[in-house]
Amino acid sequence: MGLPQNSPDEQQLQVGSLANGKYNAGCLPQDSPDEQQLQVGSQANGKSNAGCLPQDSSLKWWSKETIAVVTGSYKGLGYGIAKELAKQGVTVVLTARDEERGLDVQLDLFNKGFTNVVFHQLDISHPKSVSRFSTWLNEKYGGLDILVNNAAILHVDTIRDYQAAKDCLDVNHYGTKRMIEAMLPLLKASPEGARIVNVSSEYGRLQWLTDESLKEHCSALSTEDQIDALVQRFLKDAKEVEDGRMEKRGWAIEYPYYHFSKLCLNAYTRYLAAQLMNRPEGHKVFVNCLCPGLLRTDMTLQEEKLLPGGVTLATMDEGVDTPVWLALLPAAGGPSGLFFYKRKIMEF
Ligand SMILES: NC(=O)c1ccc[n+]([C@@H]2O[C@H](COP(=O)([O-])OP(=O)(O)OC[C@H]3O[C@@H](n4cnc5c(N)ncnc54)[C@H](OP(=O)(O)O)[C@@H]3O)[C@@H](O)[C@H]2O)c1
Repeated sequence: MGLPQNSPDEQQLQVGSLANGKYNAGCLPQDSPDEQQLQVGSQANGKSNAGCLPQDSSLKWWSKETIAVVTGSYKGLGYGIAKELAKQGVTVVLTARDEERGLDVQLDLFNKGFTNVVFHQLDISHPKSVSRFSTWLNEKYGGLDILVNNAAILHVDTIRDYQAAKDCLDVNHYGTKRMIEAMLPLLKASPEGARIVNVSSEYGRLQWLTDESLKEHCSALSTEDQIDALVQRFLKDAKEVEDGRMEKRGWAIEYPYYHFSKLCLNAYTRYLAAQLMNRPEGHKVFVNCLCPGLLRTDMTLQEEKLLPGGVTLATMDEGVDTPVWLALLPAAGGPSGLFFYKRKIMEF
């Protein structure tokens, strides 16, 4: 039924082969010509998170003073990422829209020994919530080192109307962008560089578009204005296509709103990385996006076809592996503006 399954390995690209590619030209570290140099530690098979982070302690650049913010982290993948970052010794700001739920989870983690997890309410689709969060973060920690944009929504396929399309873009693309814009001035200067990790999806890739010229257009998006113009075109189509079959206009067949929102997030990741590329040493920001694999979470439990029988699901450890790896990569002029799956670079 056309939904992405586990990505075939042959689609995975080597770092070297993308070095002069369309999407990331100039964003790759010049001195990292091969994939090997992008591995942290020795394990990259995504089998288990345990022990896959730097075994060489000289590569460990972070400490309890390192501040990581994870959006939508009281459950699902976000919770897994927050817990793993805390396990690695980083101070984690766990966030949730619902204050009570977030505090409960923080208390539970505290009782399990994670004293380095703090909670603050955050709804990325509400400018006031984001601005309250920024003020608090700045006052409490003077900023952050790592931002993991995990929060997102997916409407089931039976809900297809203009409002659903708008809601999805408001959270997944504009909400994430709002967070990035609010956090950018708060990213701490450090020799290691700050990191922005955008949790995207294999199902945001260009290959799911049904029109070749649209695919080409989307692959060349390189400014905010271009992305915004495309969003307007998409929303116009969502309004006009009364039965919600967005493929009539070249968009994805299934979950077109979710697909497009992640496509925009990917394009924004490329754009942002290019914008931030020439920052001076000490002020570097590495921004990448990734697919965690297909996971059993509230998002995918909504509809049977999201978790089709016979498909091997990723474990939570596997899902957590790539985002945490990207968040904690050694400061080797690290990758930026790329899309990862199981620690490998994928085409957008
Ligand atoms: N599950 C998969 O197979 C899969 C595959 C590929 C990519 N992903 C991506 O992985 C990420 C995590 O998804 P998940 O599977 O863990 O789903 P999930 O369990 O539904 O978690 C989504 C999280 O986002 C939060 N959220 C939604 N709207 C928000 C808003 N406006 N402000 C702040 N937080 C908000 C949710 O909080 P509330 O409960 O308050 O809504 C929840 O904490 C998403 O970016 C998703 O697109 C998942």
